[in-house]
Amino acid sequence: MAEAFTIKMPKLSDTMTEGTVVTWEKQVGEQIARGTVVATVETDKAIMDVEIFREGYLSGPLAPVGAVVPVGGAIAYLVADVKEVKGGEAAAAPAERRKSERAAEAEPHKFEPSGTPKAKTHIPAMPHGATPAPRPRIGGASPYARQLAGAHGIDIHSLKGSGPGGIILAADVTAPMTPPGMAKRIFQVPGIGRPMDAMEKAVAHSMEYSLSMPLFRATVTISPDRLSAAAKKEGYSLTVALAKAAGLTIQKFPRVNAVYQHEDRIVERKQIDVGLAVETEGMGLVVPVLRDVMSKGLKQLNDEWKDLVARARIKRLKPQEYSNPTFTISNMGMLGVALFDAIPSPGTSAIFAIATAGPQGMPVTITADHRIVNGADAAKFLNTFKQFVEQPESWISGGAGALPVTAGREAIVQGKWDYDVVIIGGGPGGEDCARDLADHGKKVLMVNDAPFPGGECLWRGCIPSKAWRAGADRMRDRVHDAHLGVLNTNKPKLDWKLLEKTRRHVLETRGELALKTDKGMKVEVRQGFAYFDSANSVVIDTSGNQNDPHARPMRGKGGKTERVTFGACVIATGAPPWVPPIPGADSKGVLTSDTVWNLKTPPRKLGIIGAGAIGLEMAQIFADFGTQVVTLEARDRPLIEVEAEIAKNLAELLAKKQKNLKLITSAKIEKISGKPGAMTLAYSDAAGKKATFKCDYVLVATGKRPVLEPLALDKAGVRSDKGVITVDRQCRTNVPHIFAVGDVNGGYMLAHTAGHQGRVSAATLLGEKAEYNQDKDCGVIFTRPQAAFVGLSVEQAKAKGIDAVEVKMPMSIDAKAMITDETDGLIKLVADKATRRIVGVHFLADHADTLIGEAVMMVSGDMTLEQVAHAIHPHPTQTEMFGEMARRLLSRLRRTAKVVK
Ligand code: NAI
Repeated sequence: MAEAFTIKMPKLSDTMTEGTVVTWEKQVGEQIARGTVVATVETDKAIMDVEIFREGYLSGPLAPVGAVVPVGGAIAYLVADVKEVKGGEAAAAPAERRKSERAAEAEPHKFEPSGTPKAKTHIPAMPHGATPAPRPRIGGASPYARQLAGAHGIDIHSLKGSGPGGIILAADVTAPMTPPGMAKRIFQVPGIGRPMDAMEKAVAHSMEYSLSMPLFRATVTISPDRLSAAAKKEGYSLTVALAKAAGLTIQKFPRVNAVYQHEDRIVERKQIDVGLAVETEGMGLVVPVLRDVMSKGLKQLNDEWKDLVARARIKRLKPQEYSNPTFTISNMGMLGVALFDAIPSPGTSAIFAIATAGPQGMPVTITADHRIVNGADAAKFLNTFKQFVEQPESWISGGAGALPVTAGREAIVQGKWDYDVVIIGGGPGGEDCARDLADHGKKVLMVNDAPFPGGECLWRGCIPSKAWRAGADRMRDRVHDAHLGVLNTNKPKLDWKLLEKTRRHVLETRGELALKTDKGMKVEVRQGFAYFDSANSVVIDTSGNQNDPHARPMRGKGGKTERVTFGACVIATGAPPWVPPIPGADSKGVLTSDTVWNLKTPPRKLGIIGAGAIGLEMAQIFADFGTQVVTLEARDRPLIEVEAEIAKNLAELLAKKQKNLKLITSAKIEKISGKPGAMTLAYSDAAGKKATFKCDYVLVATGKRPVLEPLALDKAGVRSDKGVITVDRQCRTNVPHIFAVGDVNGGYMLAHTAGHQGRVSAATLLGEKAEYNQDKDCGVIFTRPQAAFVGLSVEQAKAKGIDAVEVKMPMSIDAKAMITDETDGLIKLVADKATRRIVGVHFLADHADTLIGEAVMMVSGDMTLEQVAHAIHPHPTQTEMFGEMARRLLSRLRRTAKVVK
């Protein structure tokens, strides 16, 4: 009779010493073919198949379901002949376990787990670089004990064996891992306790081993938004993207991938295997490993990760899939943890603990083995990781993984130049940039093609239009006086000359003040038109009109010139109004936002082309002054930069309540004709019906476009695309020391945007870290009520991969609005459902220009709904609406979450 083959408890991981029989997949007596799964067993981390690689019949005695069998212990038998099959279950007596454990120690690795992938990636059976300890000089040692001793750097010669004949067993190796005295210092508590299960033991032993590491911790906060949005857009999980970012960082700091080995050896590993902690039901945290993250693309890693997680959750991971990472990430962000640190597992030198993103960002803490990683390295490592996460565009969509723009190095080219930096343009972008640079001791020249700085904002835009708006506001607000019992003020009359005097006075005073401040800050200001001569020089043409502060920009036409050299240059030349090729658009009676300021009196009738910010603001200002206005807009809605519902409500309100103002959308302009005071605007409406409007003037407000040709950008090698200078988030052009800020780079054409970009480029030039993020930019259109925005609309947020929700509140329910009879409009708040972060706030409300301040802080400060809901807002003010909306949205999210469950 042939001898029965013993089916043993397989050894499935380095830490596994025993397994629990979970199921029997085959019955005693069943014929077994090669590759049949006969049972499943639970190891310290997963439930595994026991697969048989020979033929026969399953025979008893079987280890019963639930039995804990030491590795190598018999769980069943295989016989060649069905007649030899035995039934029954094996008893798992403690004495037998001990015996079989010894048997296991003798040959722990004979069993080969099935399905080992034949990938090129190296899958370590032991920690990377570890080799089994040598045979002891005296006595013997089981192979597993030698492997353990090798892996943990334990001197096998120093151990005493407890096996037969003094053989060293695994238990003898693991025993010394407990620091001396530790066992004795057990704190006695009432009760006798219970034995730990395999998983508990594995974790406890690993953690005890980690106690031997001299650990330290360092934390940075990181904004994960761009990585999250970019990952979502590409269809990758954030976890995988974080693992890749960690891999990219490790590549730059390979020491973090090394491990200390006793005695005084460092094992460096080329392959980066990132373990990522995953919560499983009933088994706590399992750490599946993404192998060789740097040789694989994000798509492959994402596919592998999905498969690993799915199997981890049902305990079907193979040991080689969750053992021996070279670096680990523990992400408890989803568990609402403000800050924590983790412990590196044996065989690694560092671990990331990622906590929940708060107002300051997402805290990422590195805990590292000080024998391998020093504090400065850890700080650099964290900051590089931060850069990869915060600027993912360079690597997430298949990029080379180049290091993003780093802080610390000046972008000003070193050399003997006339100026460190030349700034072309003295508007908000150029001025803010110049002042910041001068404040840092740089020699700065600001060339401006007008006698005073301030640019379009001061001379032809924001400031003069708001002076007119202020006059129009006073007239309009008088209507509400009667509502509060104040009589005889509702027939206001405009003195245009007085208003114009005030406007000009404000402009001139501010212009002079700005120039004084610039000079006081040691910015050299030169009037003239600058154009490039090379990548390090400009020619300044000073032949234009030097005296008229209201003069339109000069264009370099030759004449008196001067050449200056620079180490860096910032182009801040703005964008003048753009007039489309409409027949008759060059008539004298056609005005733009450059020339409307020359009006001697408000027109009786005004035709406006374009219902953008300029068109609508002007339309309402003049309507409030008593002008009859027709505004023609090519699109089906006004204010394209503003959130759709806000713009739609404003259009409806204007139609319902604004006397003298007709807004016609989806209009097509046929022709402009006539002379100043007698113009005709011919157009067709959405239905194609032709009409004409006879008016004094036509204001064309159809957008602005930079004029690049006179700048001779090609001499400096600066590229433009579709009529604007293309820049990155630091406002840097394709030439590393030349920047472009404000309208000329084609983003939001807003004064505060230009100012911010000016400061960003100055900071970058100085080697500091700064960037412009349009997702946090804002605007106020000074209509009545005002239309305003900060951050993203729901549609914009969704397009960026954010699961956004909104809450809105009409102004009509606000007490303050009722008192002042300013009940038109609404406010809405947009939040990211997952993080509760407020990503946008949108207004159609009187006083939006001041209310928006709090909203700007919410969005720029990454505030959450909870924070706004719990903030104490003063009563009675309209800021209370923010808290109310946040609480309402939180309540809705709570309720819908319950329904979904
Ligand atoms: P815009 O681009 O905001 O609006 C121009 C409008 O004209 C668009 O709605 C467009 O569809 C329409 N349009 C274009 N060609 C047309 C045609 N042939 N017929 C009919 N309609 C036509 O430009 P706008 O209003 O000239 O303003 C320029 C820049 O200045 C914008 O970026 C704006 O945001 C900014 N600005 C901002 C202010 C604020 O924030 N309060 C005030 C004034 C201007």
